[in-house]
Amino acid sequence: MLDGRTTLTQFIIEEQRRATGATGDFSGLLYDISTACKIISNAVSKGALAGMLGVHGEAGGSTNIQGETQKKLDVISNDVMIQSNIWSGHLAGMASEEMDDFIPIPPQYPHGKYLLVFDPLDGSSNIDANISVGTIFSILMCPNAGANATLEDFLQPGTEQVCAGFALYGPSTMLVLTTGNGVNAFTLDRDIGEFVLTHPNMTIPAETSEFAINASNERFWEPPIRRYVEECLAGKTGPRGRDFNMRWIASMVAEAYRILTRGGVFLYPLDEKTRSKGGRLRLLYEANPIGFIIEQAGGVAITGRGRVMDVMPGELHQRVPVIFGSKSEIERIAAYHQDYIDGKEPTTDSSPLFSTRSLFRTQ
Ligand code: AHG
Ligand code: MN
Ligand code: MN
Repeated sequence: MLDGRTTLTQFIIEEQRRATGATGDFSGLLYDISTACKIISNAVSKGALAGMLGVHGEAGGSTNIQGETQKKLDVISNDVMIQSNIWSGHLAGMASEEMDDFIPIPPQYPHGKYLLVFDPLDGSSNIDANISVGTIFSILMCPNAGANATLEDFLQPGTEQVCAGFALYGPSTMLVLTTGNGVNAFTLDRDIGEFVLTHPNMTIPAETSEFAINASNERFWEPPIRRYVEECLAGKTGPRGRDFNMRWIASMVAEAYRILTRGGVFLYPLDEKTRSKGGRLRLLYEANPIGFIIEQAGGVAITGRGRVMDVMPGELHQRVPVIFGSKSEIERIAAYHQDYIDGKEPTTDSSPLFSTRSLFRTQ
């Protein structure tokens, strides 16, 4: 019936057999997360039929600690992730975009050695428009295995992640996983209720001519971002000598998946609009897991000032600038930031250097 196909369950068990000393805890945790993603996938796909759309709460809706309006599906997905994982004994604690503080494991359940950090529904501002959204997660080791986690336990750099993944609720529901040994993606086969390995060893092409940025923020951008985008827009007649294409879904999971399948660049850089907050996207449950996956697929993920996964978190909901994708383009963007930091680049729009580069120069 499976015609030689590998289910996620089989994949997890085979990985466990390869890992010496594996207790099965990690396999159990992954299995519970995948069950949660199936439940969320069902809720997302039912949409208006099951009253799933719109904001959560009365009059204009509730807001989370980030000050963002919560959608019904943000709250439902958050509950599903918590209820699917809290009882298992694999975890010492959890943290979620939708919860102010980390989530302790109640005393009636055993405490495990892992920490689970997640964005229950990424891109949820798109949900009523039926655009792809997803669940992002990151797994860390708890320094005090078997005890109640403390806030400090969660504040580990992305390099410490033992696993990262995301589910994408699009035309197909996908589960993308890394445990530090490449990236594999599974498609949900609804007939059998299982994720099936369909995209083994995903690799991101090093070269690309496609980028994604919210261009409505242009007036807030720093010079290295202006320089990069202006050069892309200049196309064949500019310094890059070729035309570029642009995409912006405003759903990072969907952009990450597109980049995994055909290359590209995603930018949510530091800008004047978000500088005081440190950036737009959150380090622990957005930037780090996506950064880990992108690197494992041969791509690069930076803040503009260094590698995303090297950032030492100071708080649970810390934000960072995020730029990731095809290696050669991200290295170029990193070099433009370095030029700027070293004072090798002009700091204003009106500089002669920019003018010579811009297709839109007026003289
Ligand atoms: P979330 O829905 O979890 O709050 O995250 C949304 C993020 C990310 O998915 C996306 O890239 C970005 O916000 C969209 O930003 P804009 O609203 O600036 O387009
Ligand atoms: Mn998000
Ligand atoms: Mn979210």
